[in-house]
Amino acid sequence: MIVVGCSNSKSLAKIIARKAGLKYSDLVMKHFPDGELYIKYAIDIKNEDVFLVQTLYPSTEAILEILIAGYTAKDLGAKKVNLIAPYMAYMRQDKRFFKGEAISSLIIGKMFNIFDKIITIDPHLHRHKSLNEVFYNQNVLLSSNKLIEDYLQKNYSDSYIIGPDEESNQWAEEIAKKIGMKSIVFNKKRYNSQKVKVYGKGLEEIKNQKVIIIDDIISTGHTILESINEIKKYKPKTIIVVGIHGIFANKLVYEQIMKNTKEIITTNTIETKHSKIDVSELISNSLL
Ligand code: R5P
Repeated sequence: MIVVGCSNSKSLAKIIARKAGLKYSDLVMKHFPDGELYIKYAIDIKNEDVFLVQTLYPSTEAILEILIAGYTAKDLGAKKVNLIAPYMAYMRQDKRFFKGEAISSLIIGKMFNIFDKIITIDPHLHRHKSLNEVFYNQNVLLSSNKLIEDYLQKNYSDSYIIGPDEESNQWAEEIAKKIGMKSIVFNKKRYNSQKVKVYGKGLEEIKNQKVIIIDDIISTGHTILESINEIKKYKPKTIIVVGIHGIFANKLVYEQIMKNTKEIITTNTIETKHSKIDVSELISNSLL
């Protein structure tokens, strides 16, 4: 078995390989003068099980890179070509919301058919209830819940957990139950990618409490910021934010979140200064 680090995830891939006791190699990816991608394997992968590691944020070029790498690995005689995508992109466009739109999750599912196995962490499953509805390959869904539970137990006791929308119950409510904290899950209405509104009941209880908001993806950050604004009306002691995948695509919103929270915690599926929860062992254990 060989772990191959692609451009978004070289350092994470190296750690995964070391922890799993596997060989490691960088995928060579350069640009031709016109911007097209040049891909090359630096070691012989014939008859090997290849694990490409590529988190899919930013995604556009990263997807093309792993597709070219996947087809090339088959062409070079790899026994199996597997994808480890700690953050799986395109999972939220899981329905035709408006006439004429692409259902992107299903198209990505078809495009990734080249991979024998897909391993990912907390993909956004909402209208698709399992990865099998998206991908035709063998797939492995890893959950970071236990890692989040450990972090919160170590750093925050007696807090109140808030899930900012209905889908977040699989993280917020589940984690709260495991570590013996109370939880409230909000309802959310999304008007467009930059505008959401959240509604919660029973918030009187959070007065003077430590409140921890937990969601899977912080993309523009509007969901978190709206939740913070709603929570603040009830005068909590402090607000902490946990996002599994920290994209932080909107700088102004990010600054507002920073201003209003004691701590922002994410995993390193996408590496940022908030990546305080390490998923490398979760992934390496899944390879053994
Ligand atoms: C979708 O519902 C997800 O669980 C997140 O709540 C969403 O992706 C967050 O997006 P944004 O940060 O842009 O509000």
